[in-house]
Amino acid sequence: MKIFIDTANLDKIREVNSWGILDGVTTNPSLVAKENTDFETLVGEICGIVDGPISAEVMSVTAPEMVAEARKLAAINKNVVIKVPMTEEGLKATKALADEGIRVNMTLVFSAAQALLACKAGARYISPFVGRFDDVGEDGMRLISEIMDILDSYDFETEVIVASIRHPIHVTQAARMGAHIATIPYDVLKKMFNHPLTDIGIKRFQDDWAKVPKK
Ligand code: E4P
Repeated sequence: MKIFIDTANLDKIREVNSWGILDGVTTNPSLVAKENTDFETLVGEICGIVDGPISAEVMSVTAPEMVAEARKLAAINKNVVIKVPMTEEGLKATKALADEGIRVNMTLVFSAAQALLACKAGARYISPFVGRFDDVGEDGMRLISEIMDILDSYDFETEVIVASIRHPIHVTQAARMGAHIATIPYDVLKKMFNHPLTDIGIKRFQDDWAKVPKK
């Protein structure tokens, strides 16, 4: 499974990239708003750190405007993927952009039916938001399972980005379901990294090693 980081913060992206496990980055307007840099500069800087798909979201509402906005973002770097919201206009824009060879990440997906339409429109990626779905009393991971069942039955080139991840169990469940990608917030990545028994084990080995006679 590929691992993306879900942030627009350059320091966090650099740090996680240094671990050697990072395949891409997703941003969204709320994440970008936390940084003190204009959007296009920020996307360019992220592309300079990570050599993989970097999602940047369009804010227009109509398909022609989305397409125009997407072309500008795609021109920043070959790795830019355009995030388009799951709306009727978003589907039209996705089809037009896919026909031009611009990769789309269809975002804010909350049902298998939406996922199917996104695949049909030519989305290269779809982003079902599991945490936000859980937040309203639904089962985010069951949604991933349904979407994976659909993808397993056909030859769509679409990859599923499990998004809105809240904890490491979301990630491991996504991996067990064969989801292609998880986009993970920095804090959750750190939680995946740490385990108290690892720390205790290292300490015990260090303490015992200190008792070994040295030449
Ligand atoms: C996906 O690409 C989104 O940026 C993201 O996962 C949203 O997550 P949130 O629900 O934590 O805002």
